[in-house]
Amino acid sequence: MLRVARSTISQRIGHLRALGVELEAVPGRGYRWVTPVELLEDASIRAELDARVAPLLAQMEVLGEADSTNRYLIDAAQAGAPSGSACFAELQTAGRGRRGRPWISPLGNVYLSVLWHLDPARISLHGLSLAMGVAVAKAVASLGTEGIGLKWPNDVFWRDRKLAGILIESLTAASGSWQVVVGIGMNVQMPLAPSAQIDQNWVDLATAIGCLPGRNRVAARLLGGVLAGFERFAREGFAAFQADWNRWDVTRGRRVVLHESNGRIEGLAQGVDRTGALLLAVQGKVLTVRAGDVSLRMAG
Ligand code: BTN
Repeated sequence: MLRVARSTISQRIGHLRALGVELEAVPGRGYRWVTPVELLEDASIRAELDARVAPLLAQMEVLGEADSTNRYLIDAAQAGAPSGSACFAELQTAGRGRRGRPWISPLGNVYLSVLWHLDPARISLHGLSLAMGVAVAKAVASLGTEGIGLKWPNDVFWRDRKLAGILIESLTAASGSWQVVVGIGMNVQMPLAPSAQIDQNWVDLATAIGCLPGRNRVAARLLGGVLAGFERFAREGFAAFQADWNRWDVTRGRRVVLHESNGRIEGLAQGVDRTGALLLAVQGKVLTVRAGDVSLRMAG
């Protein structure tokens, strides 16, 4: 028997609930974890990692909690972490989304960041975020998920609901090389309470697949996909991903609204060009929209 005061227990239960752990009171017994989560383990992720990409992984950390895995890896990059470093966290207390938005990050989903060094003399970063969208979409499809698509620039969708988001942050090392951190937030098993804070139409993998996927397997597929994606992008740039991106595009041929800092434009989405720019037909002209502070929403 544990000699712990009732108030301490209810305080701890409150803390766990705030982190997204769904606990149910069982009269006379205590508490029950409603939908237990398969915790991430370094060895299980490595065991699931595709042998062809395993050599690309330089080092990996699996954290219980991070403010943001992207921030953690940017700090590590500044302290000299090698290309191919990866970091997972079970939950994030200050997850970052695109355009300065927060990324709600309770226990149950997968939060991954991967660091890669790129040579500015050899490659342009144009289209990297779209290439990573292709990498993630492929990884998810390989888990047996049908109905996956991409929405420009790199949102991973399942039946018009967002399944995963990708945030790319970079810095220039003293040597002049780019240190690029790709962060992926994949909804796997989203607990109900924290999901109320999400202001867009979302879905989790458990719903898309129809059963609870093994989180270590999901983690390994994502990691393998990103490592392979970086390696290919460094060799061939976005052109190597363009056809795949256009195949996964859920907006192609649909009317969309482009929200920009100085207004909104409605047009017909026509896929992306060789640099990853969105082609948008507006009043008889085709606009070329580049990645930046623009977002795209389905019209109507
Ligand atoms: C988006 O807004 O669509 C991008 C979301 C990216 C979230 C991931 S979770 C892992 C990594 N760490 C962060 O703080 N953000 C990214």
